[in-house]
Amino acid sequence: MRPFLIAPSILASDFTRLGQEIAVCESAGADWIHVDIMDGHFVPNLTMGPLVVEACRRTTGLPLDVHLMIEKPENLLESFAQAGASHLIVHVETCPNLYRTLQHIKSLGVKAGVTLNPGTPAAMIEPVLHLADIVLVMTVNPGFSGQVFIPEALPKIAHIRKLLDVLGSSARLLVDGGVAEDTLPRLIAAGADAFVAGNAIFKHPNGIQAGVAALRQAMASTI
Ligand code: DX5
Ligand code: ZN
Repeated sequence: MRPFLIAPSILASDFTRLGQEIAVCESAGADWIHVDIMDGHFVPNLTMGPLVVEACRRTTGLPLDVHLMIEKPENLLESFAQAGASHLIVHVETCPNLYRTLQHIKSLGVKAGVTLNPGTPAAMIEPVLHLADIVLVMTVNPGFSGQVFIPEALPKIAHIRKLLDVLGSSARLLVDGGVAEDTLPRLIAAGADAFVAGNAIFKHPNGIQAGVAALRQAMASTI
């Protein structure tokens, strides 16, 4: 089995110390850095843009996993790729031409990811699964860190795991929202193999290092 991946979400970090906090994630063994881009339209929050991705790129060698919670993401794909995004993940709810958008991302030399909200059925992404390098299942309503995990996402994860296996896809099955020591075993049992975590890492009472270690331990205990 491939190793599980951990992607700390900087949305929960202390932005006055962003570079240092990313460095601690890296030394703690994080695999990717997850960057949440929100536009105040598709989701009820406004966060960061290509400038912050570019700043992250200068501070770490880890892959930057850029989650686009914005309307018309196709207009900004070049900007995020030039800023140093390693993965661009788009929401099916914002992409009327999803097949084309995923092809566009790949043409930029960036890994293509597709994601769907808790209220969106897996069938919406099934026709493009073979194009995806990453499939992200949202386990909270997108917009904020620190929300409660939505357990109805578990059967959807299991269903998408089966679809990917039938395709022989090597795409990562990533989950985002409420990932913590208690939810990890259920997510792994459902077939997820990569995990975004905001609060569980950046708000861990003993610090970022301990947060990453606690997630690794919860992973190890499921094997
Ligand atoms: C939510 C974001 C997440 C968020 C996760 O819209 O996409 O990446 O930061 O935070 P936690 O792990 O605290 O739920
Ligand atoms: Zn995210």
